Amino acid sequence: MATNAQQVNGSSTQASRFDPNFTESVINANGPKAHPRLARVMASLTRHLHDFCRENEITIDEYMAGIDMINRAGQMSNEKRNEGLLLADIFGMESLADEITHKLASEAKDAPTATAILGPFWRKDAPIYKTGESIVKGFPEGDHVMMHGKVTDFDTGKPIENAEIDIWHTGPNGLYESQDPDQPDMNLRGRFYTGPEGEYNFYCLRPTKYPIPYDGPAGELLQLLDRHAWRPAHIHFIVSAPDYKPVVTQIFDRRDEYITNDVAFAVKESLIVDFEPREGDSKAQFELKYDFKLASYEAARKHGMRDAVGPSE
Ligand code: DHB
Ligand code: FE
Repeated sequence: MATNAQQVNGSSTQASRFDPNFTESVINANGPKAHPRLARVMASLTRHLHDFCRENEITIDEYMAGIDMINRAGQMSNEKRNEGLLLADIFGMESLADEITHKLASEAKDAPTATAILGPFWRKDAPIYKTGESIVKGFPEGDHVMMHGKVTDFDTGKPIENAEIDIWHTGPNGLYESQDPDQPDMNLRGRFYTGPEGEYNFYCLRPTKYPIPYDGPAGELLQLLDRHAWRPAHIHFIVSAPDYKPVVTQIFDRRDEYITNDVAFAVKESLIVDFEPREGDSKAQFELKYDFKLASYEAARKHGMRDAVGPSE
């Protein structure tokens, strides 16, 4: 039986062809005052990365090609484009971290709204609208949707007044406003605030499937791996309120052909929705009801949701 590279060179063999002490000497470079969580995570990352290099016998040329790709992704990124996140997302890393985060949060009797990846197209300071207004500034010919629902506390069931709902989605041409010079600034982006019963409603368009940008390192990798670039039709949300952990999520159109085959692996069953036909409203052909449930920071702590380590800690 042929032995593969993993058995010969990976951590699973007793006798690696490479310096057996190297990985531990890198990990042991940390001092005694290292942040405990970070030291643990970085030791693990170092072991996995070193094993990866040994297992695949990564050469300097291959390594430099990878570094070059990371640098190009960084150089291409700015306020409107997050190529680094795109690159990581096509390997499902953000979706996996999201699954872990949600799992920790949902080990309670009820659960907050399922989270989903942020993706690279959120912009801060989207326009603030009043209840019942529309975020559609371009594409008047699109399929308009009246979306409505409630924001409540998942633990107590109480409505949350003044919760912020930040929304963004692509136009019918499959482009976010920030990718498309022909759309008005901040088209299809907006923020709304809930009323006393936690209620909200606004108008948007029915979203369409679309391919992620193909002109950078992420597109290059998808091509080399013979993968498609499509995301199913979705609308993004960040729902937040004082003393509550914000929910970053997306909802997905059940009818979309890519619903089971998302390039970014972000679809969850509880986030799949049905757009219903709407009668008697000259402003919308479709209606969508969706309720959001938030966890207070206190409940989040109770259920073990962990935030990132920052330099100030
Ligand atoms: C990704 C996510 C999105 O929501 C999107 O519109 C494009 C790309 C991503 O995670 O890569
Ligand atoms: Fe998106």
